[in-house]
Amino acid sequence: MGSPVVLGIESSCDETGAGLVRDGRLLGHALASSMDEHARFGGVVPEIAARAHVHALTPVVRGALADAGLRAADIGAVAVTTGPGLSGALQVGLAGAKGLAYALGVPLYGVHHLAGHVAADTLEHGPLPDPCVVLIVSGGHTSLLLVRDLARDRIVHLGDTLDDAAGECFDKVARVFGLPYPGGPAIDRAARVGDPRAVPFPRPLTTGGPGNRFAFSFSGLKTAAARWAESHHAAGRALPVADGAAALQEAIADVLTRKAVAACAEHGVRTLVVVGGVAANSRVRTLAEERCAAAGITLRVPPLRLCTDNGAMIAAVGDLLVRAGAAPAPLDVSIDPSAPLEYAALHPVGRAAVAVA
Ligand code: KG4
Ligand code: ZN
Repeated sequence: MGSPVVLGIESSCDETGAGLVRDGRLLGHALASSMDEHARFGGVVPEIAARAHVHALTPVVRGALADAGLRAADIGAVAVTTGPGLSGALQVGLAGAKGLAYALGVPLYGVHHLAGHVAADTLEHGPLPDPCVVLIVSGGHTSLLLVRDLARDRIVHLGDTLDDAAGECFDKVARVFGLPYPGGPAIDRAARVGDPRAVPFPRPLTTGGPGNRFAFSFSGLKTAAARWAESHHAAGRALPVADGAAALQEAIADVLTRKAVAACAEHGVRTLVVVGGVAANSRVRTLAEERCAAAGITLRVPPLRLCTDNGAMIAAVGDLLVRAGAAPAPLDVSIDPSAPLEYAALHPVGRAAVAVA
């Protein structure tokens, strides 16, 4: 008898995802997104996201089963994101996962969302080397992690953003530039015909002291881009959007890849994994490839469908936990919207883990 089929459920933000993984292999997955419903607000609206998860969860789980050619009875364990994320959104996924695990009589695992992003790459490129450095860059996160055995060891947080996430910076600046949401892909497109040296945008925290070596900050860059746009508007001049986009993208890609490669060097790590929606950025990819090649570091970037939020990545963590013999979560496991990253398994119990205002 092999290891069980693990169903993974993700609902921490605006994507409802379900994936099925066994022995490190992706068997099937499905995804629904409420992104279009948030577009006119310029960002994710938590209540709209939670309601969309309620509608999408069952069809998405069915979709993943159909994609894999499996039935619910084939599921041997359920893994679900218990945090961090939007409270109402997480609640919906966890309630669904509990119901399924209870009805099927199979173990339930709570998973840290960022561990899911880390594990996503294993579905494409196989087990992660121990150790590796992982750069997670999305609309909600900018984190640099030192990862050993994902299922067993503590994950070391080397750095985080002190304010905006990299994707958030793309999204907010795109709005100021008059580009559509989500802003990252729009900036990427606009930048193709722009000059990255046209505007000398700052490179935040690249010259800071030892405390900031692997921390990020993007709100100053966002403000600099907004000021640059305003100065054109105030002078009645047309905004050179392509140049602004190219220069912003260059600044973000430069900071991200410089710090990631420096983290590898400092910790003697030979493999860098880049995941999250911003990993789709063409300049981030090119610069990461160039700098890793120059430093003798192997770069792993999963395909875009695994980079952005999805259920397969949560199933991948569940599969690792099951195979490592990790203890499942009790059925009264709760969510933790602001869970710090310690271990891949995240099993906050009862009400204690959720702060009651
Ligand atoms: O991982 P993701 O789908 O969701 C989370 O935020 O967790 O990432 C979405 C983010 C958005 O901020 C979006 O603008 C950004 O990823 N993004 C990009 C690109 N594609 C998506 N940013 C820059 N360039 C892109 N090509
Ligand atoms: Zn995410």
